[in-house]
Amino acid sequence: MPLEPATSVGEVPPVTSSSPRQPAPSIDEARAAAAGGAGKRAYVREMFGEIAPSYDLLNHLLSANIDRGWRRKAIAELDWQRRPDGRYVDLCAGTLDVAVQLAATSGFRGHVVAADFAEPMLRAGDRKREGQPISPVVADALELPMADGSAAGAIVGFGVRNLADLDAGLREVHRVLEPGARFVILELSRPRSAVVRGGYQLYFQHLLPFVGRLVSGHRSAYSYLPDSVAHFPTGDALAERLHGAGFATVRWRPVTFGIAAIHTAIKSA
Ligand SMILES: C[S@@+](CC[C@H](N)C(=O)[O-])C[C@H]1O[C@@H](n2cnc3c(N)ncnc32)[C@H](O)[C@@H]1O
Repeated sequence: MPLEPATSVGEVPPVTSSSPRQPAPSIDEARAAAAGGAGKRAYVREMFGEIAPSYDLLNHLLSANIDRGWRRKAIAELDWQRRPDGRYVDLCAGTLDVAVQLAATSGFRGHVVAADFAEPMLRAGDRKREGQPISPVVADALELPMADGSAAGAIVGFGVRNLADLDAGLREVHRVLEPGARFVILELSRPRSAVVRGGYQLYFQHLLPFVGRLVSGHRSAYSYLPDSVAHFPTGDALAERLHGAGFATVRWRPVTFGIAAIHTAIKSA
């Protein structure tokens, strides 16, 4: 069945400043959200809406561009060659980096539905998709506007950690995938080696929040980032959750000393 997006970026009226601005969320609100509190969905949506203009710059700066190579490795796991003309979902698509990289891959003839609930993020990445088979859709990953079994594959870069209900999100992806399709998760992780972890913690807990706050002007977003990684199930724990959501085969591997990890889950044929 064809995809019926509730709204797409092109159809949504421009964001205006007519509604009074709320004060930026505090560090305490960010901590509670990172720990999975009741306000997580609202915090995450608002926060990404606010940092959208500086997201790309900070993303590449703070990761020294390593994130591009990670996305390439994740896309290689998607096995899109199984259905080169299929419809693929980029979940929590943000400024479209994963969608654009996938759509530009040589031999890919399919279509990418790029879903995100923070419209300013999709808008910030909109110019990147020029001429590419990508449809940005303002949608919650927990309630995708797609029919059962309608996607040839799904991928998410640095997104699942932000879901207010991880298990519901994994089940939702399983629902929209066709039998035999893959779901690839690229997510930040926690390095196992004590030496790497030491330097990484120093960078992640102190330098990154400082630079992030300075460049984005956002009080809590770059404190939420390390906190949310600390609370997220990594490695085997995430693999277990994927099994729990119905995926038959799950494997994962660390990348760059375990700073990030790629999980690949397959829906039974
Ligand atoms: C860290 S950004 C990642 C963006 C992009 N995938 C990348 O590789 O750079 C996380 C994105 O997930 C989105 N997000 C978080 N929770 C979501 C949800 N429940 N539904 C849809 N999008 C969500 C945020 O709005 C944000 O744009």
